[in-house]
Amino acid sequence: MALIEAASPHVMNTYGRVPIALSHGQGVRVWDVNGKRYLDGLGGIAVNTVGHNHPKLVPALQDQVAKLIHTSNYYHVPLQEQLAAKLVALSGMTNVFYCNSGLEANEAAIKLARKFGHDKGIERPQIVVFDNAFHGRSLATLSATANTKHQKGFGPLVEGFIRVPLNDIASLEKATAGNTDIVAVFFEAIQGEGGVNPARIEYMRELRALCDRRDWLMMIDEVQCGMGRTGKWFAHQWAGIVPDVMPLAKGLGSGVPIGAVIAGPKAANIFQPGNHGTTFGGNPLAMRAGVETIRIMEEDGLLENAARVGAHLQGALAKALQGQAGVKEIRGQGLMIGIELARPCGVLVQRAVDAGLLLSVTADTVVRLVPPLILTQAEADEIVAILVPLILAFLAE
Ligand SMILES: Cc1ncc(COP(=O)(O)O)c(C=O)c1O
Repeated sequence: MALIEAASPHVMNTYGRVPIALSHGQGVRVWDVNGKRYLDGLGGIAVNTVGHNHPKLVPALQDQVAKLIHTSNYYHVPLQEQLAAKLVALSGMTNVFYCNSGLEANEAAIKLARKFGHDKGIERPQIVVFDNAFHGRSLATLSATANTKHQKGFGPLVEGFIRVPLNDIASLEKATAGNTDIVAVFFEAIQGEGGVNPARIEYMRELRALCDRRDWLMMIDEVQCGMGRTGKWFAHQWAGIVPDVMPLAKGLGSGVPIGAVIAGPKAANIFQPGNHGTTFGGNPLAMRAGVETIRIMEEDGLLENAARVGAHLQGALAKALQGQAGVKEIRGQGLMIGIELARPCGVLVQRAVDAGLLLSVTADTVVRLVPPLILTQAEADEIVAILVPLILAFLAE
């Protein structure tokens, strides 16, 4: 079969697609419909936590499909409580709302923040958001997102956001001084789409203190950086803090669509019956995927693996590339790694595909690796062996 060009005339043209189609996978390998094999350095964009065709996940999902896929939130769904108990224990927070995607989780967080304000008599609540943030593509989450390219053509945007630079507490304090309409600070512990930009540990602690002092909700979008990717369950845990609201999605279901918002005591009782909901949210199949993903992560030591193999991978990349003219920085934590180059490098996506490696380029200049958390050290070395020559050749052009 030839390369797949314009393969979907009836599917809306919303993605700039790489001209391959994948047919199946095993572990961190995937194969395309022509039989070509790839190392999966992208994991469906930080989604396939346990890789492909996992021997524990697949039978569990098959079992669930045969029992119940969907009921309705008219009824109790025991698996919701089972997963919530786990998420609450892992996060140190108290209550969970379920939805189906990252933007939905963030939309729920934004609604929580607004109602938190209204309940305090704030009529026009405002939320602090950040340069280079990405929170999704619904109107509210797009408005919280920083990228004007994504926003273009969709105005008027949703009001009520104040944007400040990341890792600069003085700017935030200045931008919010005397403003009694602020209800929340909303940020990614490590920005994903914005270019793999970590919020500094000390900055997160300062934000926690500021939120406490001014009675704001601290809302941390862990949609991409959460669920073990950095070597802790949630990336903010490196700072030893606990947020008030934490949206999750992506890696939580290992590929089965799922979203969740975890709330701490300050936000757990804001929503009352009728305030928020969604038909598919918390359906038994997605809940089982979440329960089994966490079980496998615990049984197979995937946090420890992400930390260890991630450090090895980042170290090997740094050894080969740091100091090269045209390489600005190699950064990230665990298996969320960005290599920032000095000029746009989108062409590397196709070149990597040609060489048998899946990855993405984000924020124009950042090569991003977010592979499954089962990646071994040998597989990490394979990524380095493919990727480094591609980058060096690109830099030499
Ligand atoms: C940090 C973050 N928040 C939210 C989203 C949106 O998630 P979804 O694409 O599931 O709507 C993404 C997606 O990349 C993300 O990285």
